[in-house]
Amino acid sequence: MTKRMGYRDWRWQALWWLHFFLLWITTDGQTRYSIPEELKQGSPVGNLAKDLSLGLSDIFDRKLRVASEAGKQYFTVDAGKGELVVNDRIDREALCGQSASCVLPLQVVIENPLQLHRIEVEIRDVNDNAPSFLKSDHVIEIAESTLVGIRFPLEMAVDPDVGSNELKTYTLSKDDCFTLKVKEIENGRKVPELVLNKSLDREKKAVHNLFLTAMDGGNPVKSGTSKITVTVTDNNDNVPVFENSLYKIAINENSPNGSFVISTKATDIDEGLNAEIEYSLGVHMPPSVLSLFYIDSVTGDIYLKQPLDHESQTSYRIDVSAKDKGLPKMEGHCSVQVDVLDVNDNAPEIVLTSKSTNVPEDSRSGTVVALLSVRDLDSGDNGKVTIQLGKGTPFTLQPSFSNNYALVTSGPLDRENFPEYNIEITAIDSGVPPLSRKKIIPVSLTDVNDNPPVFTQPFYTVYLKENGVPGSILYSVSASDLDFGENAKVSYSILDSKVQDVSVSSYVYINSDNGSIYSMHSFDYEKLKVFQIQVQAKDQGSPPLSSNATVHVFILDQNDNAPAVIYPSSAALGSLSHQRMPRSAKAGHLVTKVTAVDADSGHNAWISYRLAEATDASLFTVNLYTGEVRTKRAASEQDDSSQRLLIEIKDDGEPVQSATVTVSILLEDGLHEPMLDLRQKVAEPSKKTGRITLYLILSLASVSVLSLVTFLILAVKCIRNSRSSGSCCMRRSDCDDYKNPNRNLQIQLNTDGPIKYVEVLGGDMLSQSQSFRSCMSPMSEYSDFTLIKPSSTTDFKEVISVLDASLPDSTWTFESQQVSR
Ligand SMILES: *[C@@H]1O[C@H](CO)[C@@H](O)[C@H](O)[C@H]1NC(C)=O
Ligand SMILES: *[C@@H]1O[C@H](CO)[C@@H](O)[C@H](O)[C@H]1NC(C)=O
Ligand SMILES: *[C@@H]1O[C@H](CO)[C@@H](O)[C@H](O)[C@H]1NC(C)=O
Ligand SMILES: *[C@@H]1O[C@H](CO)[C@@H](O)[C@H](O)[C@H]1NC(C)=O
Repeated sequence: MTKRMGYRDWRWQALWWLHFFLLWITTDGQTRYSIPEELKQGSPVGNLAKDLSLGLSDIFDRKLRVASEAGKQYFTVDAGKGELVVNDRIDREALCGQSASCVLPLQVVIENPLQLHRIEVEIRDVNDNAPSFLKSDHVIEIAESTLVGIRFPLEMAVDPDVGSNELKTYTLSKDDCFTLKVKEIENGRKVPELVLNKSLDREKKAVHNLFLTAMDGGNPVKSGTSKITVTVTDNNDNVPVFENSLYKIAINENSPNGSFVISTKATDIDEGLNAEIEYSLGVHMPPSVLSLFYIDSVTGDIYLKQPLDHESQTSYRIDVSAKDKGLPKMEGHCSVQVDVLDVNDNAPEIVLTSKSTNVPEDSRSGTVVALLSVRDLDSGDNGKVTIQLGKGTPFTLQPSFSNNYALVTSGPLDRENFPEYNIEITAIDSGVPPLSRKKIIPVSLTDVNDNPPVFTQPFYTVYLKENGVPGSILYSVSASDLDFGENAKVSYSILDSKVQDVSVSSYVYINSDNGSIYSMHSFDYEKLKVFQIQVQAKDQGSPPLSSNATVHVFILDQNDNAPAVIYPSSAALGSLSHQRMPRSAKAGHLVTKVTAVDADSGHNAWISYRLAEATDASLFTVNLYTGEVRTKRAASEQDDSSQRLLIEIKDDGEPVQSATVTVSILLEDGLHEPMLDLRQKVAEPSKKTGRITLYLILSLASVSVLSLVTFLILAVKCIRNSRSSGSCCMRRSDCDDYKNPNRNLQIQLNTDGPIKYVEVLGGDMLSQSQSFRSCMSPMSEYSDFTLIKPSSTTDFKEVISVLDASLPDSTWTFESQQVSR
């Protein structure tokens, strides 16, 4: 522009000087034409001939010509018409630039005579130039945060036209955000300014394309346009926005550590760092949430850090924030609701709410033993609990209000059989798979005195040697009680009964604590053979229970009695007994019979006779067992008429007891009746001895039949059984006699070697004062047979078992069968 301006200045100066010089030489006044610029070549400007008062011929003759002071011939003269016409394109702007008037001075030169006329041609402006901008494209960067009202100057347009044709106004293409303001500066120049009418939003419109149009005042208006590209630079004015403001997810509580939970996503419509998002958990999250969840700061994915537990919390609300990296950072928020789904991970629990400490064994069915409740921390079906009771116990569960149960008895209890129960209760929930838990409730029963003491045996048999020391332990009974504690504490006592019209308590006493029975007497077998003690054991329960047992005490014989001679009756110690015999008696003549008894029994009463001394030992002999005194040979005249025999009588006891009797025999001539003599002798003894002898004979006679029968049975049985087992059985059913409860038969067999003796006891054993014994030798010389006369009642079974027990060495077995009584 400066260059152009300089050129114009120079042109102006040159014209001015030329003008000055011409004025000096010209004579004529001014002729002035006015033409618009840019006329076509040949266009008339004015009638030069007429105006200069020249004839047409002058023009030709006088060689009229137009000289341009500017050198360039814009005009020429039409010789024919005498008109000044345009010769060249006249551009006002080129000639005069921006000056308001543009006058082109011309010299009209006429020769013959040389005349110089000066004319002026005013070039009028024609709107032939449009306003123009130097650059058609402009780029402006405006930050989106720019305040409304801020102005941005724009390039001015240039219109070389002048006057009304010069640049008049600017317009701006329509835009939401921008308006145009035209500012006038000195000498009327107009500066367009872009005004921010509305705040920019890069995110809505990042680029504004504007067109600035400059218009002149010509007619028609000419305009020029420049494109203005407004680039909105990003400002961090947008928060990151989550796709959802609330995310919801349900997750199983047993999801493992590190499980993916949910993905959150935020977008930031800013750009660059302003749109780069970093995710984090909300700062105000409680530690419990922070300890459970973490978020991937880049992807926004939330993961589990710790296993969840539905039971401690069913739902979490997590605040998530997304922050961009702009300056300042912008932050967007959302919430994540994590619902924790229940998983059957809790086994049901059985809680014993109360338990009765005292469950007596006689509790009625339905007695509450314990109260319990079940619970399951899970919810729904996982927390629905059913309860089961182990089978085989007399207990049942009764449901009460929700999830509470009463454990009640459902049957009879017996502490003695089951002192305690471990009741197994199983609780099962309804989850899939179900979980269960067991609880064992120990229930111990308390004792009730429902069991009497029981003796070890219903009856006891005690064998006691006679002549024992008083105060010695006779026997110890014991009873046990199945109950417990005081109910099982047994004390012993002796029930009063009579033994030989005397209270039994004067014979024995019992240690009430341990059941030891002491004798208070020494017993004499010959006076008392057997007696019974009723012992009672009583517990200390309330009420007490008791039971009885019988102790049979058998006094065992000791050899404490010497044989007593009962015939000859006069055989008092050392005294003489006179017997007579005919001198004519032959060998084997029965002279007399010595009879002795022994108050003892058994071996102790087994008497043998022996001739100890004799006047003539060759004449007499004494039968060892019968005591019969017989002649060995026929007496002769030489034999002394008075013979003395000393007979020793011994029992078989240990130690042996013995007695002697001296028999004096008178040999008489002419005496012939020995049997009569014997009968006389039998009738002769005193009243007492006679009766005893009679009894003896009677009992011998009666019992021998019985015993023989018994013996035969035994023998037959023995022979029969010996083939198979060698044992001998005796059955009560075999013999009708045994069925008679009023009769007792006791057979004692000593079987070491040949049978030595058989003792048959009949009847009441307490009434041994009426018992009798006798000896016989049914099979061999070494057999005794003792018989006790039957009397009142005793249990025959007991006797048999006594018998059984008393024959430990026996190869015979006594079998007793109870026949209904
Ligand atoms: C923005 O333009 C509207 C009309 O387009 C006009 O009413 C308003 O005054 C302008 N605001 C400013 C700040 O120029
Ligand atoms: C779970 O993972 C975290 C760390 O990642 C650890 O501290 C925690 O002990 C884990 N828990 C389990 C139950 O594995
Ligand atoms: C019973 O007690 C007495 C005295 O303390 C004692 O002598 C006896 O041996 C005891 N009997 C038993 C069977 O223990
Ligand atoms: C024990 O004997 C006594 C006296 O004879 C009697 O009163 C009691 O009922 C008997 N007890 C039992 C359990 O038989």
